[in-house]
Amino acid sequence: MNFTNQLFLLLTLFSVLFLSGERVLQTEAAHHHHHHHHHHHDHGPTKLFVFGDSYADTGNIQKAVSNSWKDPYGITFPGKPAGRFSDGRVLTDYIAKYLRVKSPIPYRYRKLMPQHVKYGMNFAFGGTGVFNTLIPLPNMTTQIDFLQQLIKDKVYSALDLTNSVALVSVAGNDYSHFTQTNGSQGLASFVASVVNQTVMNMIRMREVGVKKIVVGTLQPLGCLPEITAATSFQRCNETNNAFVLLHNTLLSQAVTKLNQQTKDRSTFLILNLFDSFMSVLNHPSTNNIRDGLKPCCVGVSSKYSCGSVENNVRKYRVCDDPKSAFFWDLVHPTQAGWHAVYNKLRTMDDLHRILD
Ligand SMILES: *[C@@H]1O[C@H](CO)[C@@H](O)[C@H](O)[C@H]1NC(C)=O
Ligand SMILES: *[C@@H]1O[C@H](CO)[C@@H](O)[C@H](O)[C@H]1NC(C)=O
Ligand SMILES: *[C@@H]1O[C@H](CO)[C@@H](O)[C@H](O)[C@H]1NC(C)=O
Ligand SMILES: *[C@@H]1O[C@H](CO)[C@@H](O)[C@H](O)[C@H]1NC(C)=O
Repeated sequence: MNFTNQLFLLLTLFSVLFLSGERVLQTEAAHHHHHHHHHHHDHGPTKLFVFGDSYADTGNIQKAVSNSWKDPYGITFPGKPAGRFSDGRVLTDYIAKYLRVKSPIPYRYRKLMPQHVKYGMNFAFGGTGVFNTLIPLPNMTTQIDFLQQLIKDKVYSALDLTNSVALVSVAGNDYSHFTQTNGSQGLASFVASVVNQTVMNMIRMREVGVKKIVVGTLQPLGCLPEITAATSFQRCNETNNAFVLLHNTLLSQAVTKLNQQTKDRSTFLILNLFDSFMSVLNHPSTNNIRDGLKPCCVGVSSKYSCGSVENNVRKYRVCDDPKSAFFWDLVHPTQAGWHAVYNKLRTMDDLHRILD
């Protein structure tokens, strides 16, 4: 199967989006039927630290560089644009809800809202990767540096971190940057580097003192509207999803190995975003979703994207009911989409282990 060309196209599309300031990305997976864990909340996690990209960012990315700060982003929650790449809540908010902590404040608000620092902090920036991308924002290494500095500054103590969880989102910006620069040559070995760097970051989070580290698998990139637009949003591109499986297989293997080398064998967890996305997209109606692959908010032509305005004229269209769509824009789920993914994660086998 010759999928390098197809992959190249996929990632080129990613890059185009990325340059238009609409970039994204991700993390997570999980589980349910262990409701009793909630009853032990007193001993459960008390702080959530978040690292990664636009699938997890709740406001770090600056207004000047991102559509996520423009209408109609945020119309469902909080009711106006607030930096989330969705009409409402994103993965971070649902994981915080599961842990029964407030959604952690974006790093850039830490001084404005010092009373919220106790719930943890969100260091994720839309458009970033584990390596540097075209957007000059903090990569994951730098995001971990921020936490380390806060510990040095005594914003957090060692005791604070004993009940902490890290959520790690790596949703593809490294790949769009790579193919933009190098094409598809050497992509397979680059996948290995991305996974290697992700795992080294997770080890570092543990060394800094975070108790549990949860990383999402890569979501089915071939199902993102920017890809399925080629089939009028009818079908996921299986060729692209095959590449995603390489990333996810390497990641799962690395995490298994890491736990074997760790005293507490459940320090590192995988959140199966890939399967959760697929499950919801394969059965949209059982999740109260009407439009599985068709995004809610799109530019009026390929020149424009959700949120585009030109000469004070809107250059995008929004669906009547964002609650019935899975995808918000060409890359990011709606709040309803994330909620359905979250419900799926709770029925799977990992989420409850965050509370162990
Ligand atoms: C899948 O994507 C590739 C480009 O990455 C394209 O060549 C191929 O036609 C797509 N398949 C379908 C079914 O759309
Ligand atoms: C992260 O960014 C810093 C600052 O740009 C850079 O020095 C470092 O090499 C980057 N780390 C990785 C793993 O790419
Ligand atoms: C492109 O390939 C070169 C040589 O293999 C590598 O050093 C560089 O990091 C790659 N570019 C990106 C954006 O990863
Ligand atoms: C990552 O790659 C480096 C250099 O090849 C290697 O030393 C290290 O063990 C790898 N780390 C993981 C977690 O695979």
